[in-house]
Amino acid sequence: MQYYREGGEEAMRSIVRCFKPYINEHMVKRYKWYVEKIFETGILTGGEYTEKAEKELSRLTGMKYVVLTNSCTSALEIIASYYRAKGYDTAYIQALGFGSTYLVFKKLGYRIRFIDVHETAYFIDPDKIPNRDEKAVVVVTDLFGYSYPELNKELDEKGIPVIRDSAQALGVAWNNNDYAVSFHAIKIVTSGEGGAVFTNNEELYMYAEAARELGIIGRRHMTYGGSYMMSELEAALLLVQLDYFDYIKNRLRENVERYDKLIPTMYDNILEDKGIKYRHNGIQAVLITENRDQWSIRGQLLDHYGIQTYGTSAKDLANEPIVAGEDRTETPIAEKKYREHVILPNYVELSDIEIQYVSEAVKQILANKKLPRSEWVPWK
Ligand SMILES: Cc1ncc(COP(=O)(O)O)c(C=O)c1O
Repeated sequence: MQYYREGGEEAMRSIVRCFKPYINEHMVKRYKWYVEKIFETGILTGGEYTEKAEKELSRLTGMKYVVLTNSCTSALEIIASYYRAKGYDTAYIQALGFGSTYLVFKKLGYRIRFIDVHETAYFIDPDKIPNRDEKAVVVVTDLFGYSYPELNKELDEKGIPVIRDSAQALGVAWNNNDYAVSFHAIKIVTSGEGGAVFTNNEELYMYAEAARELGIIGRRHMTYGGSYMMSELEAALLLVQLDYFDYIKNRLRENVERYDKLIPTMYDNILEDKGIKYRHNGIQAVLITENRDQWSIRGQLLDHYGIQTYGTSAKDLANEPIVAGEDRTETPIAEKKYREHVILPNYVELSDIEIQYVSEAVKQILANKKLPRSEWVPWK
């Protein structure tokens, strides 16, 4: 099958992007209206839009408390510092994750232990978490918009608090945990940069409110903290985006289902496991292939086809250069899974023809039939 792109030479050189925030005309209008209000009052931070967005997120997720921050990494740091102040000094970190989790816990002086992931699932394996007396927290990363709630029951029995890096999983993270979400531009809804702490624990909520503003309560520095506020301009954009949360989620899910029909090795199949129940928001189209490296030239592009991918978004943390040599834990499954996954383009406005084009490219690569760049044809 041949695919043609509109727009001649120019379009031929363009790429199919991996992510693209959804911003429609109505959103732009509404956002401008918010911005005018913000400029009228002159309250650029810590104002009514921050509060409104927090309330809306609480309503959407069923979590009692939400504290907006300038990134998911800051939100994770706040949660990690709360537990550190309570005497927790060891972090069992899911070995397949994202740099934020390692960096934040390291910075706070936790002893780091990477825990390998499950044989078939992309989650920390509860059987590999030691039964020791250490004051430890478990750090789970909800990759690809998937969450694995059953894990909690097992850890509850061990009495270990779970902190979730749910950067990619707004709307699915399990209700009993403290977690952080990202509103970075490549996430399901965005404020440009941004994040939030979600908790049902009033004490952590109070702590987080102070910690995002240098730990100041009243006029005194009372706790650990940073300069981690989200601005009103970002909060207003987030509010606009949250109106479309369900729409965006459904569209992304539909795209994933379209891919699923065209490339049978996709998605739900690969995360399925005996008895493990997942929840997901279906935001990422994930392809699993033996050797991911053959897919990308210079790391991030299916170059011959002009398709952008982020195959490296989940890291094999124990083998990242900054970590290497520090933690001797062997995490072979995480290492293998890191090499297996490719994240394919998915965003609201991705067209059917683009999905077909990507799927066709995937099939050709699987069949080892790489088309050189010069053979690209414009499509319409
Ligand atoms: C799993 C995970 N954790 C943490 C982050 C960091 O988010 P932020 O850029 O908001 O700090 C990301 C961002 O891509 C992520 O995917």
